[in-house]
Amino acid sequence: MLKILVVDDDKNSRDIIKLSLENSYEVDVALNGVHALELIRSKSYDVVICDYVMNEIDGIEVLKKLRKIGSNAVFILITAFGSSDIAIKAIQEGAYEYLSKPFKMSKLKQIIQNVEKGLNESKTFNETNKLENDFDDQVIAESSVFLETLKDMARVAISDVPVLITGESGVGKEIVAKSIHRYSKRSKYPFVAVNCNAIPGSLLESELFGYEKGAFTGADKGKPGYFEQAQKGTLFLDEIGDLEFDLQVKLLRVLQEQSIRRVGGIKDIKLDVRFIFATNVDLDKKVQEGKFRADLYYRLKVAEIRVPPLRERKEDIIPLANYFIRKYNTFNREIKLSNKAEKLLLRYDFPGNVRELENIIRASLIKARYTGIILDEDLNIKEEFVKDTITKEDILQVLEKTRNNRKKAAELLGVSRATFYRLLRRYNID
Ligand SMILES: Nc1ncnc2c1ncn2[C@@H]1O[C@H](COP(=O)(O)OP(=O)(O)OP(=O)(O)O)[C@@H](O)[C@H]1O
Ligand SMILES: [Mg+2]
Repeated sequence: MLKILVVDDDKNSRDIIKLSLENSYEVDVALNGVHALELIRSKSYDVVICDYVMNEIDGIEVLKKLRKIGSNAVFILITAFGSSDIAIKAIQEGAYEYLSKPFKMSKLKQIIQNVEKGLNESKTFNETNKLENDFDDQVIAESSVFLETLKDMARVAISDVPVLITGESGVGKEIVAKSIHRYSKRSKYPFVAVNCNAIPGSLLESELFGYEKGAFTGADKGKPGYFEQAQKGTLFLDEIGDLEFDLQVKLLRVLQEQSIRRVGGIKDIKLDVRFIFATNVDLDKKVQEGKFRADLYYRLKVAEIRVPPLRERKEDIIPLANYFIRKYNTFNREIKLSNKAEKLLLRYDFPGNVRELENIIRASLIKARYTGIILDEDLNIKEEFVKDTITKEDILQVLEKTRNNRKKAAELLGVSRATFYRLLRRYNID
């Protein structure tokens, strides 16, 4: 039987929750955060349901402290209505779910049933599967720059307006789009992602709009398109800048009318869909060049979220790297970044952004699996994008000092031999 702890300094809410759960679960109550932590120290709970606003310490503090003392209880935070910043913070700190007041007891029960199911399943899951599940769509954010982006995200998530996500390739546009969906009221319904440049134009129309039987040769039965598949949920149209002109016109009409007609169909189908668009090209420029319709562009960019490139938020690099190590480490031992590897990552410009970091780490793990340490030379980076703080003069100086002893020179500069040789090549020093 699941062991549940309910934490709330309001007796009424505490009692209501306890009453409605105690038939099916073992339920304890804590009068406040401090009391909760006391109980957690002496007993292991599967689920902690905790109010956010409490005297002394708030719900998020309880969550942080509980993790510090080693509890991995599933944490459900109860927040005041509309405080999505706190909700997002909670999720980032490792909360499983949040509920905004007022909520239905049936909703809470549903969540706990899911937890129960998940816990049972995870016992029979093999290790890799479990990993993949745990890591699904987790968003790592440490830098204030990216946290700001997430706040923008939280603000638009609670509304239903279309969102345009911009940013270089690999910055995390899709992961932001998924988070918007997850934090929105549509989260229980589908998130449908369509990459507009992966499907040829002629096909894209029937994929998006669906078609009726006999609409074209081969259409021997009707099929709903992505628009309909996303009903009640979110449709994510990626690489929107690549949409062909006539489809731009059709999309604009869909946005204006909130309805579609299948290819070959005669009736209009009402849509209840939230749109998120993404692009890594400069749409403004495309509009100026006449390649993207201005009217559609203005419609898309009602709410714009720019995801900053990784080089503008260096504080995220190491946390992301460590996250990817955990995500891809299947080698049954702890693997860590060496100091020098960390330094190299911090100096690197990441033209391919987070996706590039992910690939670099994944590849480095294979090399580090025997030693448990990722060295700077294990990182497969592109030389020309390393920002060197060591100048050519520095190198010439230490070489002179050490009488061209490269090993010693590298030591003096505090870099690995591999890095030192890289610098020599870079500055054309023989
Ligand atoms: N903040 C983050 N936390 C964890 N993983 C991240 C984060 N940002 C990006 N990633 C991961 O990096 C990879 C690239 O992210 P994503 O696909 O969202 O980028 P994108 O901007 O859509 O890229 P593209 O323009 O190439 O389509 C994904 O595997 C994603 O899970
Ligand atoms: Mg993408």
